[in-house]
Amino acid sequence: MGFATDCIHAGQEPDPSTGAIITPIYQTSTYVQEGIGQHKGYEYARTQNPTRRALEKNLAALEGGADAYCYASGMAATNAVLSMIKSGQRVVVSDNVYGGTHRLFTKVLAGYGVTFTFLEASDAAAFDRAAGEFDMLWIETPTNPLMKVCDIAALAGIAHRRGAVLVVDNTFMSPFFQRPLALGADIVVHSTTKFLNGHSDSVGGVAVVKDARHAQWLQFYQNAAGAILSPFDSWLVLRGTKTLALRMPRHEANGRVVAEFLRAQAKVRKVHWPGFPDHPGHDVHKGQATGFGALISFDLGSRDAAQRLLQGVRLCSLGESLGGIETLISHPATMTHAGYTQAERDALGIGDGLVRISVGCEDAEDLLDDLRTALRAV
Ligand SMILES: Cc1ncc(COP(=O)(O)O)c(C=O)c1O
Repeated sequence: MGFATDCIHAGQEPDPSTGAIITPIYQTSTYVQEGIGQHKGYEYARTQNPTRRALEKNLAALEGGADAYCYASGMAATNAVLSMIKSGQRVVVSDNVYGGTHRLFTKVLAGYGVTFTFLEASDAAAFDRAAGEFDMLWIETPTNPLMKVCDIAALAGIAHRRGAVLVVDNTFMSPFFQRPLALGADIVVHSTTKFLNGHSDSVGGVAVVKDARHAQWLQFYQNAAGAILSPFDSWLVLRGTKTLALRMPRHEANGRVVAEFLRAQAKVRKVHWPGFPDHPGHDVHKGQATGFGALISFDLGSRDAAQRLLQGVRLCSLGESLGGIETLISHPATMTHAGYTQAERDALGIGDGLVRISVGCEDAEDLLDDLRTALRAV
């Protein structure tokens, strides 16, 4: 089936008991059994839930994976994947990943004897020379918030030569634009909170796998650790993915208009958007994705200038998230990337004047009017 068809139908059959076309919210904690060991495949709702399962099958189809497992948030999905790594093992991470990922790795999991090394990964050959041995490679591409591009196929080769797994956080692109498993990645992670749900009304996460061994562990971990996605949230994300193929082209078209507008403004020092032909990694991105997305970051030079812009916008909402149908604008240094130290942010180039925008599906002219007005106060 085509991608849009899978968005609408994959994992979902009319409900067997009523014929309801939409998968019901199975809001139950347990399932009645006919006798000892005699049940319909459902015993307890932490372990199995039909609404969650429908979403998992839907997301597995969209990412081209063998299976998928949904968790209570993107961070819970990340934590579940990292549970495959044991004390004494080493994880290499592309630098400037989402601040919460950095926080989980450095402030929680490092305490369990796992070594984390953050490395620039946009030059795959240099990365290969610098990385040493490792057990897992964790990347985002484009990275959050500087939109650095990593070559997924090259990094998959580099990881596999070391017997390591490559995990790609594909939250920024969504499977509509980028399908890392087809490029050699082993696991894809999403914050379903973002484009997959798309309506800023649910927090969730998913890990999509292509290997049965990984599938078995992630399902086991769902039940063992328990941070599963609720039936209602599963239903919301299922409803969200139905329109993914309609929303993403609009997000991207608006993203291009906003990126080009920002680039033409004298008060904007730099715009990071992979769609610009002179953006580092533009060609690599074009070779591995079918679009450039709607995430843009831009530098206004100082915290004061960023503050004035963020206070001046009316239609763009100042808020910490992305991928919703409405435009969100944020300040990485104090919001999404507050988990990094000032020195780490400085080294990465996440300055106090950097603003990130997740362009929504409004009328582009209205967004430009809003940004134009706010920029006058900068
Ligand atoms: C790229 C990326 N990955 C993971 C996460 C974490 O997801 P959640 O907020 O659903 O836990 C986020 C959240 O902003 C993100 O931007």
